[in-house]
Amino acid sequence: MRYFPVFLDLDGRDVLIAGGGEKALQKLRLLAKTTARIRVVAKEISADIVAAAQGSAVVLERRPFAPSDLTGVAMAFAANDDPDADGVVAAAARAERVPLNVVDAPRESTFIMPAIVDRDPVVVAIGTEGSAPILAREIKSKIEGWLPARFGRVAERAMTLRRRVQDAVADPVARRHTWERLLQGVWRSAVLAGDETTAEREFHRQLEAASAGTQSTGSVSLIGCGPGEPDLLTLKAQQRLQEADVLVVDRLVNPAILEYARRDAVRIDAGKEPDGPSAAQDDINRILVREALKGQRVARLKGGDAFIFGRAAEEIAAVRAAGIPVEVVPGVTAAHACAASVGLPLTLRQKVRQFAVVTGASADGAFDLDWAALAKPGQAFAIYMGVRSAARFCASLLAAGAAPQTTVVIVENGTLPNERAVAAHLSQLGRAITETGIKGPAIIFVGLDWASAGLALPDKIKVYEPVRVGAAGQMEGAAAAPAPQEENEAPQVVDFAR
Ligand SMILES: C[S@@+](CC[C@H](N)C(=O)[O-])C[C@H]1O[C@@H](n2cnc3c(N)ncnc32)[C@H](O)[C@@H]1O
Repeated sequence: MRYFPVFLDLDGRDVLIAGGGEKALQKLRLLAKTTARIRVVAKEISADIVAAAQGSAVVLERRPFAPSDLTGVAMAFAANDDPDADGVVAAAARAERVPLNVVDAPRESTFIMPAIVDRDPVVVAIGTEGSAPILAREIKSKIEGWLPARFGRVAERAMTLRRRVQDAVADPVARRHTWERLLQGVWRSAVLAGDETTAEREFHRQLEAASAGTQSTGSVSLIGCGPGEPDLLTLKAQQRLQEADVLVVDRLVNPAILEYARRDAVRIDAGKEPDGPSAAQDDINRILVREALKGQRVARLKGGDAFIFGRAAEEIAAVRAAGIPVEVVPGVTAAHACAASVGLPLTLRQKVRQFAVVTGASADGAFDLDWAALAKPGQAFAIYMGVRSAARFCASLLAAGAAPQTTVVIVENGTLPNERAVAAHLSQLGRAITETGIKGPAIIFVGLDWASAGLALPDKIKVYEPVRVGAAGQMEGAAAAPAPQEENEAPQVVDFAR
């Protein structure tokens, strides 16, 4: 880190802007948000600057810059838009040891300006050390989307209430919890909505509960964390992750997603290593209830979407039965994410007008889907947890009358760096998986016939080439790969369906 980020107190300090054009105006607009004493010095000063300065204490001086302008200033800006004129200011600033920003010339500057998200008094500064301002702008717009426009109001109100909370709640841990409940709950929403009556009522309620030592019940959020790529997390999921005291995490949740959680949040692993024992569903339910009853905010992190093959119903029932509030934060399910990632539409005009999600995994091991319905022409569906049972899917669909040439696409590790996608015919499904070494997690799409809808084969999808067995019995062909010992998701299916 060459540049060290700091927030400088400019209250009542002198700041110089050398320059009278567009660049100087930009700096003036930024600095005008502070309580600094601003002076603009230039031979010519634009009408826009005059207008911006009107009614403020900004001093405008129409004359050439002089080194004595730097005496006693906290910082200066060379904004002449003229390298020679800026060079004069830079040389004087170096001599006077005054921090200087030469606009758009980071190497001539002793400090550079970050991209700023202003939710005063909450201010976010983003810097890339001048290497990639476009990235800084991208981050800025993401943060702007994330921080509501009135966010500063929440911070301002919190500042005015600090003393009252301190007086009412002596214990520092209880005080932290009170602040967390205020800043992440009804009080914050009410302040953001400008609903002062509700905000005041909620403030009193929280203060009374905290000073009486009554612990409010916690809560459980079932959070869909998407298929892996952290960027697919929803804003709400990110917020809940940041608020959570306890994280109960499934195996298919990408560890990178845990970076959004607080460092001090307790992590409980409810997943398992491939082929290892998983936490039983009853145990997971018990953990959720136990932690929430302690007053903790529990984030139950699930791969994809919690409502799609996620055993959410059992968890919701158990948590509700204990009188604990529960909410569901939707996530991007694997089928949607895999389809988007490889460029395969899930419906095709005139060709595919209905789309289903299915799994061969069931609580009692029965393989009893409505094969006749699935085998009909024009059907399209995504098979979850189907890698190990792919050959059985293939046999059942063909036996029910599905065309052997039906298009199938297998997407493994969708959205992750090791994603791959293979297209084959339904009759080749089992072999394609074995010979390409697909182990999962994977989604198998059946019936998405992009060619008949006039689409070219998406680039990311490779067509399966069957391995030929040569005269001497050796394998030939690009796709030859060791057979998977065992699909890593299937044992989890059994555990999940217990
Ligand atoms: C127990 S289910 C959970 C599904 C999850 N709730 C969802 O909405 O995606 C696990 C299955 O999801 C699919 N899956 C999850 N992540 C995946 C990924 N990144 N790529 C492909 N398939 C994935 C696989 O079929 C895997 O066996």
